[in-house]
Amino acid sequence: MAAEKQARSNCEMPAQDRHIVIAIDGPAASGKSSVARELAGRLGFVHVNSGAMYRAVTWDILRRGIDPRDHTRIDNYLEHTRIVCDLQNNESHILINDNDAAQHLRDDYLNKIVSLVSSVPRVRQVLVEKMRHYARDYDLVIEGRDIGSVVFPDTPFKFYIDALPDVRLRRRAAEGQRDEIATRDRADSSRVASPLVIAKDAEVIDTSNLSIKGVVSEIAARLETKGLRVAGPRKAGQPLL
Ligand code: CDP
Repeated sequence: MAAEKQARSNCEMPAQDRHIVIAIDGPAASGKSSVARELAGRLGFVHVNSGAMYRAVTWDILRRGIDPRDHTRIDNYLEHTRIVCDLQNNESHILINDNDAAQHLRDDYLNKIVSLVSSVPRVRQVLVEKMRHYARDYDLVIEGRDIGSVVFPDTPFKFYIDALPDVRLRRRAAEGQRDEIATRDRADSSRVASPLVIAKDAEVIDTSNLSIKGVVSEIAARLETKGLRVAGPRKAGQPLL
């Protein structure tokens, strides 16, 4: 019983007490993934794409014929499903009952449904716990919608990146995807469970006129002012903070 209680309290421990967490939130097609990947590479941190986790669960729910509006069935599905979050090339990677959804995460139909599934509270609970697990073992750059507001509210390194709607539309189209980003943004911002918000202590960056490298440099500069060493190669053993 005592061990169980301890395990539970470890689960609830603010993970960033031990590892550095850089939270990058923002609306659809704001450039979060490219920026987070590049920044994580520069820092030697793990890159966690939380959106990919919601997309993978959505993929599995749909292929099983579960109605994405049926919260009771989704809760039951989660009870009987093994979700494993591990790493591939320093990036988060998700397996659902040993099935890898990676090839499907950007399918057009998922863009339409993912906001519905991600609004189910139990889905969020399960996946947020997985995200916090990563921070127990690794320094992270983690991107999403509620990372600074809900998943890691105590991290001092929070960014909200945005771009004008037509710029974001063009970026998504250039990726060859059909994605009604305005509809998805509305759904993500208006849901009850952990909506997309700008965390009150987040640094907001408008990326409309910036390249990926430009955004990363901007974030790196702001991290440096917060005392996190980013620029230049780090000597082995030299602390980041
Ligand atoms: O890449 P893009 O910004 O288009 O979306 P994504 O990051 O792959 O996220 C896909 C969807 O997952 C979002 O529209 C949200 O509904 C959901 N999501 C979420 O609810 N919370 C997060 N932390 C990340 C994503």
